[in-house]
Amino acid sequence: MIKLFVNVDHVATVREARQTYEPDPLEAALLAEKGGAYGITAHLREDRRHVQDYDIKRLKELISSPLNLEIAAVDEMIKISIDTKPFQVSIVPEKRQEITTEGGLNVLEQEDHLLNVGQRVKEKGILFSLFIDPDLVQVEASKRVRADSIELNTGPYSAASNTDEKNQHITLLEKAAIQAHECGLRVFAGHGLTQENISTIIHKVPWIEEFNIGHHIVSRSIYVGMEQSVKDMVHCIKTELKK
Ligand code: PXP
Repeated sequence: MIKLFVNVDHVATVREARQTYEPDPLEAALLAEKGGAYGITAHLREDRRHVQDYDIKRLKELISSPLNLEIAAVDEMIKISIDTKPFQVSIVPEKRQEITTEGGLNVLEQEDHLLNVGQRVKEKGILFSLFIDPDLVQVEASKRVRADSIELNTGPYSAASNTDEKNQHITLLEKAAIQAHECGLRVFAGHGLTQENISTIIHKVPWIEEFNIGHHIVSRSIYVGMEQSVKDMVHCIKTELKK
């Protein structure tokens, strides 16, 4: 079974729109666990636009599943990660003006820095993952900085407007997954995944162990509730894997 990590940032986004106490990402995470989520993902951005420091603290203390903490590779966030000791730290690029994470990390241009970040988190027993585009050069660089895993950015595939374009992205994802597996990196995937578009990923991109999914699950939770929305996604992944 490919493990599902549910990203609860989007719950915090709604709360922060009113700067109030609801909806609560922790409550959503607990319901996601009831719905069958393997783990919970939260991105503490430097600008604190959605998830806040206290969310991370409460999530770590009160969820019973693994916490995947997404951060930029900056000193403040590395210190928070080391203090929090999540199950896994995922390094993502951050730009102030972006709506959501746009594109993967350029591992190649910061190898020494990422090697050092990885060393610092791994010596605390935290898994070290890098969010990258499906680019062989970035996969090789991820191996050189001793990441445990890479999360392949499925955003461009999800956003592609026609079949040709989608197929091109699938080919890139497939090649990157094979390359990562061959050099000993674990393979995860995420960004823009839905019950509709995940089936091609499951059938065409090998070696995926984990999905990180937020927006689609949280969006559907408005109609069917968080627990059911997660159940539906878990069911969808299971059904595709049986085909
Ligand atoms: N993976 C990473 C690194 C992300 O930044 C995000 C978005 O928060 C996701 C996965 C999940 O993407 P989505 O919300 O589109 O499902």
